[in-house]
Amino acid sequence: MQRPAFAVAHCLTLLLFAQKVLSATYTISDSIVGSGFDSAFSYQAISDPTNGRVNYVDEATAQADNLTYASGNTFILRADDTTTLSSSGPGRNSVRLQSNNQYTTHVAVFDIRHMPQGCGTWPAVWEVGANWPDEGETDILEGVNDQGPDQITLHTSSGCTMPSSRSMTGTSLGTDCSTADTNNAGCGVQSTDGSSYGPTFNNDGGGWYAMERTSTFIKVWFWSRNSGSVPSDVENGASSVNTDNWGTPTAYFPDTDCDFSSHFGPHNIIINLTFCGDWAGAVYSSDGCPGTCTDYVDDNPSAFANAYFDFASIRIYE
Ligand SMILES: *[C@@H]1O[C@H](CO)[C@@H](O)[C@H](O)[C@H]1NC(C)=O
Ligand SMILES: *[C@@H]1O[C@H](CO)[C@@H](O)[C@H](O)[C@H]1NC(C)=O
Repeated sequence: MQRPAFAVAHCLTLLLFAQKVLSATYTISDSIVGSGFDSAFSYQAISDPTNGRVNYVDEATAQADNLTYASGNTFILRADDTTTLSSSGPGRNSVRLQSNNQYTTHVAVFDIRHMPQGCGTWPAVWEVGANWPDEGETDILEGVNDQGPDQITLHTSSGCTMPSSRSMTGTSLGTDCSTADTNNAGCGVQSTDGSSYGPTFNNDGGGWYAMERTSTFIKVWFWSRNSGSVPSDVENGASSVNTDNWGTPTAYFPDTDCDFSSHFGPHNIIINLTFCGDWAGAVYSSDGCPGTCTDYVDDNPSAFANAYFDFASIRIYE
């Protein structure tokens, strides 16, 4: 009777070993909270490549004008909401942050209480490599003119497509991720959760965005603040997370027809808030916003009082 017992034990060992290898467990490597944002990110006072009506300011200006503000477990990033602009001068003051660290295989959890809202706004939380589009781009939270739900998009060099049928809750907007082939649209996935973006997101107290990137796939999840299905490791900011317990993602981008090693390099996290430009400006009227986008941004500073991010934390697991 010794043999079967040994066989069972041996099988169990193998099973446990296989589980350990395959289980998607990650350990925290960066916990960015409050004033930690100022050390984890650099302020980029650059011109907007997407032609926004924006003037990205440096760190000293942002802090002097209270466009960024850190206290306890709060980090605010906002646009100027007091200055009327001259149409011949620069755009509305705002902030673009780039993480100092780069990441490849990782999980990023963004706990966000409030995101920028208002006609003309184009906020984004995303990741990108140094060499665009060759090292790829993943847009995690992005939209324009308060029009939800959230849109999650990959942008790559040519030769990266997604299967039309995938295990995800979002809706595919296109399967070719190449910026060149798609006039920079990329392969987007729209969330079906109305609380994932804009005023609805804010009314619900925000929520959690999470992204998992491995060498063979990228997944993005969203849970609204009061959702009954927030994984406990996400909700509690745990020191390790297991994405196997997170359920079907909003967006799933597998490597079936996309070689990740040649389309994605190390990525920086970017948080930016621009106005009008190639996307928000292009659909401004059809989104039901008044007048022209640039006039609205120039002439109505108080319309941007809610054009701010309030981050509770960003946690990175590797
Ligand atoms: C801001 O984010 C959007 C969204 O990904 C991007 O297309 C745009 O280039 C960004 N602007 C800047 C200056 O980074
Ligand atoms: C800066 O912004 C924060 C957050 O909105 C606010 O609590 C604080 O009073 C502001 N500080 C000043 C000097 O306006």
